[in-house]
Amino acid sequence: MRDAWLVALAAGAAGIANAEYHSPPSYPSPWANGAGEWAEAYQKAVAFVSELTLLEKINLTTGIGWESGQCVGNSGSIPRKNFRSLCMQDSPLGVRDTDYNTAFPGGINVGATWDVNLAYLRGKAMGEEHRGKGVDVQLGPVAGPLGRVPEGGRNWEGFAPDPVLTGQMMAYTINGIQDAGVIACAKHFIGYEQEHFRQGSQENYTISDSISENIDDKTMHELYLWPFADAVRAGVGSVMCSYNQINNSYACSNSYTLNHLLKGELGFQGFVMTDWSGQHAGVGDTLAGTDMDMPGDVAFNSGTGFWGANLTIAVLNGTVPEWRVDDMAVRIMSAFYKVGRDTNQVPINFDSWTLDTYGNEYYYAGEGYKQINQHVDVRANHAQVVREIGSRSAVLLKNVNAALPLTGREKYVAIFGEDAGANIDGVNSCSDRGCDNGTLAMGWGSGSDNFPYLVTPEQAISAEVVKNGGAFTAITDSGAIDEAKTIASQASTCIVFANADSGEGYIEVDNNWGDRNNLTLWKNGEAMIDAVAGECNNTIVVLHTVGPVLIEDWVHHPNITAVLWNGIPGQESGNSLVDVLYGTVNPGGKTPFTWGKKRSDWGTDILYVPNEGESAPQQNFTEGIFIDYRHFDKANITPTYEFGYGLSYSTFSFSDLQVQTIPAPPYVPFNGTTKSAPVLGTVLNATAYLFPDYIRRIEAFIYPWITSTNLKAASGDPHYGWPTSKYVPAGAQDGSAQKINPAGGGPGGNPALYDTVAKVTVTVKNTGAVVGDEVPQLYVSLGGPDDAPKVLRGFTRLTLQPGEETQWSTTLTRRDVSNWDVAKQNWVVTNYTKTVYVGNSSRNLPLRSTLLLKL
Ligand SMILES: *[C@@H]1O[C@H](CO)[C@@H](O)[C@H](O)[C@H]1NC(C)=O
Ligand SMILES: *[C@@H]1O[C@H](CO)[C@@H](O)[C@H](O)[C@H]1NC(C)=O
Ligand SMILES: *[C@@H]1O[C@H](CO)[C@@H](O)[C@H](O)[C@H]1NC(C)=O
Ligand SMILES: *[C@@H]1O[C@H](CO)[C@@H](O)[C@H](O)[C@H]1NC(C)=O
Ligand SMILES: *[C@@H]1O[C@H](CO)[C@@H](O)[C@H](O)[C@H]1NC(C)=O
Ligand SMILES: *[C@@H]1O[C@H](CO)[C@@H](O)[C@H](O)[C@H]1NC(C)=O
Ligand SMILES: *[C@@H]1O[C@H](CO)[C@@H](O)[C@H](O)[C@H]1NC(C)=O
Ligand SMILES: *[C@@H]1O[C@H](CO)[C@@H](O)[C@H](O)[C@H]1NC(C)=O
Ligand SMILES: *[C@@H]1O[C@H](CO)[C@@H](O)[C@H](O)[C@H]1NC(C)=O
Ligand SMILES: *[C@@H]1O[C@H](CO)[C@@H](O)[C@H](O)[C@H]1NC(C)=O
Ligand SMILES: *[C@@H]1O[C@H](CO)[C@@H](O)[C@H](O)[C@H]1NC(C)=O
Ligand SMILES: *[C@@H]1O[C@H](CO)[C@@H](O)[C@H](O)[C@H]1NC(C)=O
Repeated sequence: MRDAWLVALAAGAAGIANAEYHSPPSYPSPWANGAGEWAEAYQKAVAFVSELTLLEKINLTTGIGWESGQCVGNSGSIPRKNFRSLCMQDSPLGVRDTDYNTAFPGGINVGATWDVNLAYLRGKAMGEEHRGKGVDVQLGPVAGPLGRVPEGGRNWEGFAPDPVLTGQMMAYTINGIQDAGVIACAKHFIGYEQEHFRQGSQENYTISDSISENIDDKTMHELYLWPFADAVRAGVGSVMCSYNQINNSYACSNSYTLNHLLKGELGFQGFVMTDWSGQHAGVGDTLAGTDMDMPGDVAFNSGTGFWGANLTIAVLNGTVPEWRVDDMAVRIMSAFYKVGRDTNQVPINFDSWTLDTYGNEYYYAGEGYKQINQHVDVRANHAQVVREIGSRSAVLLKNVNAALPLTGREKYVAIFGEDAGANIDGVNSCSDRGCDNGTLAMGWGSGSDNFPYLVTPEQAISAEVVKNGGAFTAITDSGAIDEAKTIASQASTCIVFANADSGEGYIEVDNNWGDRNNLTLWKNGEAMIDAVAGECNNTIVVLHTVGPVLIEDWVHHPNITAVLWNGIPGQESGNSLVDVLYGTVNPGGKTPFTWGKKRSDWGTDILYVPNEGESAPQQNFTEGIFIDYRHFDKANITPTYEFGYGLSYSTFSFSDLQVQTIPAPPYVPFNGTTKSAPVLGTVLNATAYLFPDYIRRIEAFIYPWITSTNLKAASGDPHYGWPTSKYVPAGAQDGSAQKINPAGGGPGGNPALYDTVAKVTVTVKNTGAVVGDEVPQLYVSLGGPDDAPKVLRGFTRLTLQPGEETQWSTTLTRRDVSNWDVAKQNWVVTNYTKTVYVGNSSRNLPLRSTLLLKL
């Protein structure tokens, strides 16, 4: 492995080819201070860490190596304190790599509910399952990728390509996970918007370094950093730095994004963990703000680590100050105490590498034979949460002639498409869901988990039709077009299923390397829809897709009477769908992304072919803040369906907009200094840190001990002893009191950003005949020439009885009406006229009012 960190540091310090896109250095790494609600946990952490030796602290920070422990990531332990390895486990939708766990809906479905309470319930349920398996850190939720590009492979793990919708879902999910006593991990920080080249070489290309996602300062603040600010404000315990580079500096070596933005400006008090092999440097990453190295080895099973012994050596040779290691340990332990891990930890009772009951605790080394899987059933009644999110996330895109809901009196229901049925090889037959066989209820990659079962649409609809005394046929062979035409001409109700899948880049499915190659349907979807619609004048289309697909060519077909999008709904897929199709649940989901008419409408795309030879590909985010609906609005492009749109079986009206501005004190840049960095221990000499005789070393394990008092020999780093001026940036070792970022000073940034500046009230009425849900949406125009025509700032999902009306109100904070001023390096409220809009989609906003702020 090359010394990428040198490149990263050089880029940060001096800039490389792309002078415009370099990441400025920011040192020293801010130390935790126990601000706000972290106070008690911080104090406990300081007390605990103060009793540790240097090696024990280093053990907390360093993974023991890939497949060396039972979780997907395992830190070292502290036997003297009876403190076991911390267990890090995927995924953002449930416990990965185990059994008797729940397969929850993807994040994109939670986004589609626009219901923060459901986000909380899912977070809580997932947290309980992780807790029950013995997990300390659940690796989720996801706000990066945000969804810059609709083809992005992992967009579905997150919530929506909008920072406010995503930010709220992040916060509520984090609260749920952490209320269950498990540390959440907000990931991936930051700018991780495509799978291609995230780790350099991919597909047919050999590339030396990861792609650089080049993001300007305004876009960083107003778009990509925003939901992470919400995560920090919600008290998230950990943040994962991503694989990509940002402005030509690796995410886990990037002192600007980690030290300046996350720990400085946002005041993050927890710890930064690397993505798996996202670490590219020892000293460099430590000083740049990374606190935990996962899975701990330089390359999987290399037996060498950037940290472990190397971190011990770096402290001994004076390149990493002791206070920095103390801070890393304090941050990890603060998160541990904050969520109550000290009182609710249970033994790790599963194994990530096999479902066999007996096996090796140290899987890679092939040692430690024992019972490794207790097959603990952690599901409780979480299937109800899955079913509810599944139905509440359904977005009804089209519904004519009251095609839906079905009445139960349908004489003959026929369903079509592979997406209606089972994976005939078994529900979990493809590792990490890396295929598109049968109905799609989850994307692929590390953001997946195993299904305990999967109720298919075919099963659930067939049961319903049979119960109602109807006739039923299913054609789940997507190639059986002629057979489908025959049946479609006979059935009274035809339901066509189609999907589109994506996932993480280490798995390729049908030549899609994580990112989708196109925005069309998979498995012959369009052909099946066309065939059925040509023969059946009541054709209902159900889509299970990870994001938008192009539907303009067929959606207006007169025989297509209804179109329902249900994302990737998890294990209760068929049941949730039946709830909506038959009207037990009135659909109230709103599309969390824009449905463009053609691929070029989005104005952004994946970089599929490297553009810098074998050097790091460069992806310039030249569109700035204009992604998804902001772009469609600015470029005046009419989509098939706009962001925020979704029908109901009822109708709603909006009236009586009232805007009350609330005087807030003027915004004062934060003026303060930190204390100096606490030093919580003493560093001994090299002899004290030699491997003790009593340690029997396990193959490929990463330990904190050193093999020789000759530090150069102990390190084995080919550049050992390079002059520190080459890789220890100015100020990086300085533990003296530091000025606090004027845009910072509190969790999520300057506390004054969260002052309430306006209250907005409207009357929402259910004007239809059935109970239903509506989502009033508040958008703001910030008014400047560089601003989006409007940006989402508030929403609530309401349930209203027929004829019922309610006053919905929400507030705007100063942040909601501010812009990031690049020159001032702070938020400002510009003097451009601000307007508020309320309605039920980003393009149906019947109410508007000018906002006359009293600031
Ligand atoms: C990215 O931006 C840099 C700096 O403006 C420019 O030199 C480079 O050519 C751009 N790269 C691409 C692929 O557009
Ligand atoms: C560090 O962790 C490893 C792995 O759990 C353990 O074997 C070792 O004893 C720990 N070292 C110290 C100094 O506690
Ligand atoms: C990569 O190579 C494979 C096999 O030669 C080929 O099928 C595929 O189209 C190539 N992909 C690209 C993007 O060139
Ligand atoms: C220390 O890190 C270097 C890479 O910077 C690596 O080559 C070496 O093997 C590591 N040493 C140990 C003992 O893990
Ligand atoms: C299941 O998926 C795999 C991987 O994509 C594919 O090779 C196989 O043909 C699929 N099986 C069926 C029955 O479609
Ligand atoms: C789009 O990609 C999917 C999945 O690889 C494939 O089935 C489909 O044929 C592609 N569509 C087009 C128009 O090539
Ligand atoms: C609609 O369906 C009817 C059969 O009910 C068929 O005769 C007609 O051609 C279809 N219309 C179109 C536009 O395909
Ligand atoms: C749809 O086709 C059926 C016969 O299959 C016919 O009875 C019905 O009137 C048609 N409906 C419309 C709206 O054309
Ligand atoms: C910041 O506070 C210091 C010390 O209280 C004071 O001397 C200084 O004038 C303040 N600066 C600003 C810009 O308010
Ligand atoms: C190094 O530390 C050990 C253990 O604390 C101590 O016994 C020894 O005297 C020290 N050696 C030197 C040269 O300071
Ligand atoms: C200090 O130790 C680190 C970790 O082994 C090594 O990378 C670095 O080159 C060393 N620096 C000096 C000045 O000895
Ligand atoms: C609006 O603010 C700009 C600076 O942001 C200033 O130059 C301009 O004079 C202001 N206009 C008004 C009418 O206050």
